[in-house]
Amino acid sequence: MADTSDTLHRAPSGHLGPSYKPTEEQPSATISTQVKLANVTILPQTPQLIALLTMIRDERTNRADFIFYSNRINRLLVEEALNHLPVLASTITTPVGRTYAGVAFEGKICGVSIMRAGEAMEQALRECCRSVRIGKILIQRDEETSLPRLFYDKLPEDIGERWVLLLDPMLATGGSALMAVDVLRSRGVPEEHICFLNLIASPEGAANFAKKFPKVRIVTAFVDQGLNEKNYIVPGLGDFGDRFYTL
Ligand code: URA
Repeated sequence: MADTSDTLHRAPSGHLGPSYKPTEEQPSATISTQVKLANVTILPQTPQLIALLTMIRDERTNRADFIFYSNRINRLLVEEALNHLPVLASTITTPVGRTYAGVAFEGKICGVSIMRAGEAMEQALRECCRSVRIGKILIQRDEETSLPRLFYDKLPEDIGERWVLLLDPMLATGGSALMAVDVLRSRGVPEEHICFLNLIASPEGAANFAKKFPKVRIVTAFVDQGLNEKNYIVPGLGDFGDRFYTL
């Protein structure tokens, strides 16, 4: 799916930086396209997030830095995704004998990474949720049909009773992730119990998801301009798996 629409080529721009600088002295940066889809949450376009994304988008960034900075964004994504899971009222007593009306997490969770790039997001999930169970799904494009094909999955037996954080850093056409949701639903996971985390999404991928699975929540750091003729996200960051594992 190539980006043929002119609107996809135009990126929004915003001034970034603390307010002690007047607006005209703050640098202008490209910020995420906003999409009118109820299921999509885009992280706040803070100077920190834009600086982290600038690092991992840069073709000169070496692998060690790519891993370090993408992990920092992954942490932000996981923390935001956890906000979409249910909580229960929990009133506790503090060491000074006062009560505090708070909340506690409700329900069990599970990560599911779409191999291989999704595995790069597992560390951030483990850092936020100690001993979290993590399932795996391997989907690859069939050489003959060009359609995504399921090669392997290994998921917890009780995944149908869990809230699932689905991990894949780049939402391009959405073909693999849509198939991964089909697999999860076939194991009894309700659509509304799935939250899909990615660093960069294309408008086309987000729209495809909203159309087929409107109840699946998407948490992304950035919606980019579109896809090129090879279905790479543009401006994007190239092949995430190659940059994280092999380059
Ligand atoms: N997967 C990637 O790694 N990069 C893209 O741009 C699209 C899919």
